Amino acid sequence: MIFDVDQIKGQFAIIRNYASGGRFHYLDNAATAQIPDCVISAMTTHDTRARANVKRGIHSLAQEATDAFENARDLVAKYLGVQNSDEVIFTGGATAGINMIALGFGQNLKPGDQIVLSQAEHHSNLVPWQMLKKLKGVNLRFLPVDENGVIDLSRVEETITPETKLVALTHASNVTGAVTDVGAISEIARERGAKLMLDGAQMAPHGPLDLPGLGADFYVFSGHKTYGPSGVGILWGRMASLEEMPPAFGGGEMVAHVAFEKTRYAAPPRKFEAGTPPITQAVGLGAALEWLGNQDLPGIHNHLNHLLEQIMAGMAQLNNTHGNRIRILGPPKGEKRLPLISFAIRDAHPHDICQIMNDRHGVALRGGHHCAEPLHELFDLDGTTRASLGMFNGREDVDALLNGLEDCLNILD
Ligand code: ALA
Repeated sequence: MIFDVDQIKGQFAIIRNYASGGRFHYLDNAATAQIPDCVISAMTTHDTRARANVKRGIHSLAQEATDAFENARDLVAKYLGVQNSDEVIFTGGATAGINMIALGFGQNLKPGDQIVLSQAEHHSNLVPWQMLKKLKGVNLRFLPVDENGVIDLSRVEETITPETKLVALTHASNVTGAVTDVGAISEIARERGAKLMLDGAQMAPHGPLDLPGLGADFYVFSGHKTYGPSGVGILWGRMASLEEMPPAFGGGEMVAHVAFEKTRYAAPPRKFEAGTPPITQAVGLGAALEWLGNQDLPGIHNHLNHLLEQIMAGMAQLNNTHGNRIRILGPPKGEKRLPLISFAIRDAHPHDICQIMNDRHGVALRGGHHCAEPLHELFDLDGTTRASLGMFNGREDVDALLNGLEDCLNILD
């Protein structure tokens, strides 16, 4: 299907609902993307025709629910380029997936083992490891980033050592949009005998993905950023890595046999899906990734990159007329980055910018440290304002953003 932004917009009820007001410029997709009608309808159909618990019941509805849940797993696997759907685990979100690895993989670690992170990590990929450090006495090492927030590849060789057991990195930063060069890092991690985990929360919506070809052992992301529902996410792992990893959570349905003294776990994915999973949300996520995978992804990339360039050009122009007050974070024009842009305006607080943008221009942005406080400290900033694009955004959203920015520059002087 050839990409047509108007045709895409027509598939989002929230855009149709607000269109009459004429001031709905949603540029907060890196926090949560909007959800297309077909995903809402897949979840409604499930809950009105096949709602039951999964993997437990003999009755027909339980079977239908289980089939729908497993079909969703297959659809997710297809989007991820994964042959074996059993490598796909439904979680509560990217954060839940990382915590599952910290608490599971972490069980086999001992004091002195190293976890390598980068300076660009979201708190979700930092705090769980700090908690593991307290529990197990592991050391945390950090790959430095350059002034654009790009991981400094020249430091990988010395930072990943034979003591490193896991390298856990963002696939793409939620602040700078910088995309991690996975190939170079995965090779060194493998040489040192370390596993590689990628936080794909920001990258997953910008597929296509080929997880087995990427060189990672684990990959996590959330449903709500991939045009799906919240409350669900994915942990993918190579089967051998999943088999080795102890489960973080115990409970029903993750077991092969339970006695009073001990339990034998089921094989993945069940081993990692204790309790009732987010069934309707999994069905929604399957529908979202099927829908996303059927779009003209290269067309969407071109469209979003074009919008990003227009934003950057507009900001450069505003800098000419307003004393270079806008500082843009992230890789410069021409270098690979996601369609998001975080910026700081001298003498203006990000929350004031977001308020003016919302109240006077109908533009939804995110302001603050975006759950990446250490990275902001590194950039010597308390916070930034972020505009993040989704495939339904168009030129009118860019114009509203740039007009609003000029307003902010005039008001917040
Ligand atoms: N991690 C999300 C963001 O960057 C919430 O906004």
